[in-house]
Amino acid sequence: MAHALPQGYVYPMKVCIVGASGKLGRYMIQHALDRGYEVVGVCREQSVTKLDDFADRITIVAGATDDREVIKRAVAGCDGVLTVLVPWGMKGYASGTAQAVLDFAEPSARLVFSCGWHITLDGKDVYSKKLLALVKIGGFLARLARVVDLDDQVEACRRIFASETRWTVVRGSDLEEGESQGLPVWSRHVGDPILVSNLTRRTDFALFMVDAVSNDDVVREAPAIVGGQTESARRHSAQTSTVSAAG
Ligand SMILES: NC(=O)c1ccc[n+]([C@@H]2O[C@H](COP(=O)([O-])OP(=O)(O)OC[C@H]3O[C@@H](n4cnc5c(N)ncnc54)[C@H](OP(=O)(O)O)[C@@H]3O)[C@@H](O)[C@H]2O)c1
Repeated sequence: MAHALPQGYVYPMKVCIVGASGKLGRYMIQHALDRGYEVVGVCREQSVTKLDDFADRITIVAGATDDREVIKRAVAGCDGVLTVLVPWGMKGYASGTAQAVLDFAEPSARLVFSCGWHITLDGKDVYSKKLLALVKIGGFLARLARVVDLDDQVEACRRIFASETRWTVVRGSDLEEGESQGLPVWSRHVGDPILVSNLTRRTDFALFMVDAVSNDDVVREAPAIVGGQTESARRHSAQTSTVSAAG
């Protein structure tokens, strides 16, 4: 299948996937390979075997994703860097990873980061009580247990939003496994009717990330996504076509 490439690009486009061995990362590798992209994957030493299925088709750089030397080596010459932003531990893993990518990616590279709906770009998102409680209580307990620091993911995104790079922060809804249902739809603000279903197939989250590399419409945007086949997405699409038919 032919895919649109940004103006001036010729195949093969080269992308680096940071956090390649996780569920999202592996889906992204597959989508990138499907598009004919050359892929460099960064993952922790102990997770390299999780990439065995791809070992002969991608370059693997083993190491922590917040190791600046590892990232410097991995992103060199890449047209796009797709980063799974995870707030593990209490030592600034997410912000360290994001900072290394911001510092070492090629100046013209498209930088695409993953996170959840809880991140806000302009403070205009409207959250459900359930999500607010989950972030507050879950975040507090995870911090107490010193396993996850959600505040560090917030800090990572603050640095990305402030940067002069060509970034996109993709904000995922709740996720489920299953066959692809195609590219998710998105909105600038959580709380918009199109997002109400709050569910995306994980493979389609990955598809949106990979697609964003060649989609200039989402440069310096923080799209909140939802599955294109969900009820709220379909309702929105039906309403939009009724309006345009009437107009
Ligand atoms: N899960 C959800 O419901 C959900 C919802 C919305 C958005 N998101 C976003 O989606 C992204 C992750 O998605 P996912 O849930 O599908 O997870 P995932 O793809 O499995 O990614 C987890 C990543 O965290 C790494 N990791 C695990 N334990 C670690 C540790 N102790 N130290 C350092 N790295 C560690 C994994 O690397 P290894 O392979 O080396 O373990 C992997 O790269 C995040 O950006 C998250 O904010 C998730």
